[in-house]
Amino acid sequence: MSSSRTTPLRVAVLASGRGSNLQAVIDAIEAGQVRAHIVAVISNKKDAMALARARKHGLKDVFVDPKPFVGLPDSREAYDRALLEILQQHEVELVLLAGYMKIVTALLVNAYANKMMNIHPSLLPSFPGLDVQKKAIDWGCKLAGCTVHFVTEGVDEGPIIIQAAVPILDEDTADTLAARILVQEHKIYPRAVQLFAEGRLRVDGRRVVIGAAKPDGEAIVSAT
Ligand code: GAR
Repeated sequence: MSSSRTTPLRVAVLASGRGSNLQAVIDAIEAGQVRAHIVAVISNKKDAMALARARKHGLKDVFVDPKPFVGLPDSREAYDRALLEILQQHEVELVLLAGYMKIVTALLVNAYANKMMNIHPSLLPSFPGLDVQKKAIDWGCKLAGCTVHFVTEGVDEGPIIIQAAVPILDEDTADTLAARILVQEHKIYPRAVQLFAEGRLRVDGRRVVIGAAKPDGEAIVSAT
């Protein structure tokens, strides 16, 4: 049952690198466009620029070193168990993968079913995986874009929340195309977070239905 929420949505961001999508979400929150609070920015890379961005904005930054987990049985699950503890300690309601270059295991996916989003720089289901801007150009696509989706066990397979398309120009390189897609990523990721915060996302099988705005939405997502 949904009830009006009085506090901002508690969000954690997992990022491995540059963190420009993290920055877009931070900026949207600070501008009052997204009603959320980033309670932790977590990285598997000590020097991730994302962690520096978090510190700059007074947000909690957490480096979880993958090294101690290497060689353990179920090392990936063990790592995710450590992440889950941090997420639970901070009472996280929504997890954002933002350039998080580690595959999340079922342990984390199930704990945050329909409460974990990822952004991917292609129009899924075309081009899951890596180097996707180059793959779209090489395939001869006329359109590329980006997708925000809920995270499921299959990589880049979860229900699609928002997409944005950009044209592929004859002179595009992977870098120029990636830069144009990134501009759109920075628009649709904060938008998806705000829709979640307003309690407007309903998952119906593979489809995500965006409901009408409620005065004081709660982050409730119902799965079928
Ligand atoms: C973004 O383009 C994001 O879509 C992509 O990594 C980049 C991270 O940039 N993610 C993936 O490819 C995940 N499959 P950022 O660190 O500046 O946000």
